[in-house]
Amino acid sequence: MARTAWVGGNWKCNGTTESIKTLGEVFNGTSFDKKKLNVVIFPTAIHYSTARQALNEQYELGSQNVSKTKNGAFTGEVSAEMLKNMNVPWTLVGHSERRTLYHETDADTAVKTKIALEHGIEVCLCIGETLEEREAEKTNEVCSRQIDACVEAISDWNKVVIAYEPVWAIGTGKVASQQQAQDAHEAIRAHIAKKVSQEVADKVRIVYGGSVSDANCEGLIQMKDIDGFLVGGASLKPAFVDIIKAVKAARA
Ligand code: 13P
Repeated sequence: MARTAWVGGNWKCNGTTESIKTLGEVFNGTSFDKKKLNVVIFPTAIHYSTARQALNEQYELGSQNVSKTKNGAFTGEVSAEMLKNMNVPWTLVGHSERRTLYHETDADTAVKTKIALEHGIEVCLCIGETLEEREAEKTNEVCSRQIDACVEAISDWNKVVIAYEPVWAIGTGKVASQQQAQDAHEAIRAHIAKKVSQEVADKVRIVYGGSVSDANCEGLIQMKDIDGFLVGGASLKPAFVDIIKAVKAARA
């Protein structure tokens, strides 16, 4: 089954009005067919409108986080209601930096996934094991657990992309090998087939994240269960366009 490729650019806590304008000029210089490839940029909340103005309509935008609480006395939070009101179509949920640095639990990711989907916001659900867990051969167990936590919360699998991001590969320059990434993606798809249905497993997009660059993306996108990427550092550089081009060429 042909799945529409998906590439995310997670800008994390980076950017200035000037850098976003400059990147926008570079990104806008490439074109792709939105029916074959979705590209979603995740700027900080404060840069959202700057990024929306800088990027042309080929690019969708998303939030890096969504509150698990509603509007009200929750200082520092951005609610799903607000994302909906501001026409923000996507949000990341469960990024490893949220899980590790801000102590978000599997239960938190489930609540955030549910609340985002209820407000019509598509979710890129991030999962992945630490180095310790990989060395203990617990990769599949960890990914399955992180997915299981959210299965009940997912009312529409068409609105969910899974990002497999091994923690040891994030920001380290140590990209997973093509086979390591393929094995993990295949196991995630098999788990979804068992827990949800074969139909959902066949159609859900599973993208790889962790030190993706213009130098390694061509090989990774050839793997049969890899439907695209969630890119961190390289999405802040002109080379992000080369990643878009590589995915476009592989899916042409
Ligand atoms: P890097 O591409 O910088 O390793 O970051 C990956 C990531 O965390 C994307 O969400």
